[in-house]
Amino acid sequence: MNTENAGKPPHRPSLLQNWISLTGLVVVIGGLFSFFMLLMLDAVAHFSNPYISILTWMVTPAFLVFGFILTLIGVLRTRHKRVGSASMVSAVQIDLSRPRDRRILVAFVIGSLLFIMLAAVGSYNSFNFTESVQFCGETCHGVMKPELTTHDHGPHARVACAACHVGPGVNWFVRSKLSGSYQVYSVLFNKYPRPITTPIKNLRPARETCEECHWPQKFSGNLDRTYNYFQNDASNSPYSIRLSIKIGGADPSSGPVGGSGIHWHMMVGNQVEYIATDAARQKIPWVRITDSQGVVTVYHTPKFTNDISKMEIRKMDCMDCHNRPSHRYVSPDKAVNLAMELDQIDRTIPWIKTNAVYVLTRSFKTDEEARDGIATLLTQRYPSDPRIRQVIPVVQQIYRDNFFPQMKANWSVYPDNIGHMIWPGCFRCHDGNHKTEDGQRTIKANDCNACHTILAQGSGAELQQMTPGGQPFKHTGGDYDLSCSDCHTGGP
Ligand code: HEC
Ligand code: HEC
Ligand code: HEC
Ligand code: HEC
Ligand code: HEC
Ligand code: HEC
Repeated sequence: MNTENAGKPPHRPSLLQNWISLTGLVVVIGGLFSFFMLLMLDAVAHFSNPYISILTWMVTPAFLVFGFILTLIGVLRTRHKRVGSASMVSAVQIDLSRPRDRRILVAFVIGSLLFIMLAAVGSYNSFNFTESVQFCGETCHGVMKPELTTHDHGPHARVACAACHVGPGVNWFVRSKLSGSYQVYSVLFNKYPRPITTPIKNLRPARETCEECHWPQKFSGNLDRTYNYFQNDASNSPYSIRLSIKIGGADPSSGPVGGSGIHWHMMVGNQVEYIATDAARQKIPWVRITDSQGVVTVYHTPKFTNDISKMEIRKMDCMDCHNRPSHRYVSPDKAVNLAMELDQIDRTIPWIKTNAVYVLTRSFKTDEEARDGIATLLTQRYPSDPRIRQVIPVVQQIYRDNFFPQMKANWSVYPDNIGHMIWPGCFRCHDGNHKTEDGQRTIKANDCNACHTILAQGSGAELQQMTPGGQPFKHTGGDYDLSCSDCHTGGP
């Protein structure tokens, strides 16, 4: 043992005992404090705010790194001095018996407390600022305006963005914060695409978002829906079709379970997988089903002979049909039909259906240009009809709700997969072209009463004649041998 130091514990002061390292440590603690505070604040916020992630994941870590570097510099300096003086003890820097050191210590403690308090207040205030209208209104909402507007008009208006885009749990929370930081970067440096592209890569599987509220086992029965149209003729002739949509169920306790029904794809035990050859998932040449007994059936189009081991196979989930549950950009055709059905647009004005759709589909660069353009064009078309004055604000409102020229967002850039009228939708697979290898079986198509029953169609008295078993489709557009979406675009 060391006889010189007998009776005293060996005194080996920590390399951290120097003012620079201590300051560094305080900065580190302040940074950590802000980090957790921001994380907590963001977790309880009602609206997931990507800007807060800049603070949480960029600014506070910068402080942390700065603190660590300071600490390290202090340590290295102390070590250097000690090696220089060759003594382990002489490097003690802080000696409380010296009044000077005591004064420095008091100042240091007060300074540190102030710094940590400032960090807390600062993070709280910056959090509030990023939520504020000035901040969001000018930067973020310009970009998100289309999604915000359509969300507020949709069936999920009361569901927070984060319920679908983030979902519960820490793992996805952190992932979304990281991508949020990237989004902020892309907004600040004007690098984001217009329109924002879909489908969103890495959107969380529906199982963990939609199914928090909707329970696939519980779907049952049919949905009775009447679609009302006004045709492109001088008298805007009405035409309606009443469909009983066979949603179907998957749980005997909530209704009959059959081999049919639309939610068949989602039935417990069934698994549908597919390969899409385009980024928008609009071309699906290959489909594989594994049923509850484990029987596998593969359907593909005749031309598709690719090696599937090199391709991404996606498991079908809610979003492959309900890809626009929240952001529906209504097509001009549909929006004008609805306004006419509700008598917001006077249907006795000749050709008003055609003309209203026409003006909506002109290209405008800004909201203001559209507002003025719609008024001018409609007035030009009906120079001597005063009834057009009531139509103009309605058409302008349709535009405001569904067209976002600055973001180039409207119905024509976001495929909606739920039906088959203006996008391929169900007909991506149910087109009669997907067969098993032996050619014996085809995915059901062309049977207009397979997924829904046509209960009634036409106008006036015809609509009163219901056919529960379904009737053949009478197309006002005449014979056709193409897909609906080849002619019906939702526009003019
Ligand atoms: C009910 C679930 C749901 C809610 C609530 C929701 N979204 Fe979405 N959102 C989706 C889905 C699903 C897509 C993917 C669309 C696709 O792939 O075609 C999407 C797409 C988007 C896109 C990509 C561009 C686009 O228009 O498709 C943005 C941006 C977006 N959402 C932002 C938001 C914001 C902001 C909110 C809150 C105001 C919100 N979302 C609320 C489900 C939701
Ligand atoms: C936080 C709960 C919640 C989440 C998450 C949620 N929904 Fe909903 N959803 C609702 C509620 C509530 C309604 C009923 C709204 C109403 O009838 O006014 C609804 C309605 C619907 C409807 C019927 C809409 C209509 O036009 O009548 C569909 C389809 C739907 N949701 C699909 C989805 C999909 C797909 C997702 C996942 C991307 C999802 N939902 C996520 C709560 C939720
Ligand atoms: C194969 C396509 C497809 C898949 C997959 C699918 N749905 Fe549907 N779903 C439909 C169609 C079609 C309707 C009919 C209503 C409509 O057109 O919006 C519907 C209706 C609904 C409704 C409204 C029911 C009502 O009575 O109003 C809800 C809610 C719903 N689906 C949720 C889901 C959820 C959640 C999932 C995922 C577990 C899912 N769907 C998977 C096609 C699908
Ligand atoms: C990814 C491809 C794909 C898409 C997209 C798709 N389906 Fe299917 N669907 C299938 C396959 C595969 C089957 C099972 C065919 C078989 O083996 O009988 C099926 C079966 C069905 C059945 C059950 C038919 C029966 O009675 O046996 C209905 C109903 C149905 N689909 C409706 C729809 C609707 C409505 C949509 C659009 C909202 C849709 N499907 C979109 C692949 C798809
Ligand atoms: C694979 C299933 C499936 C088949 C087969 C099918 N439909 Fe549909 N159809 C749907 C679904 C689902 C909707 C509802 C879309 C929605 O949510 O509005 C729909 C909607 C419609 C609409 C209303 C479209 C609109 O948006 O205005 C018409 C009209 C229609 N179908 C006609 C037909 C005709 C005609 C056939 C036969 C050639 C047919 N369908 C075959 C699934 C199918
Ligand atoms: C070859 C082009 C073509 C194809 C393919 C086609 N349609 Fe049409 N369709 C028309 C035309 C043209 C009209 C008359 C439009 C008008 O006067 O408004 C029409 C009218 C309609 C109408 C009356 C409402 C309206 O908007 O005028 C419905 C509903 C309809 N079609 C559904 C379908 C469905 C469902 C399919 C697919 C099964 C389909 N069409 C395929 C050209 C087509």
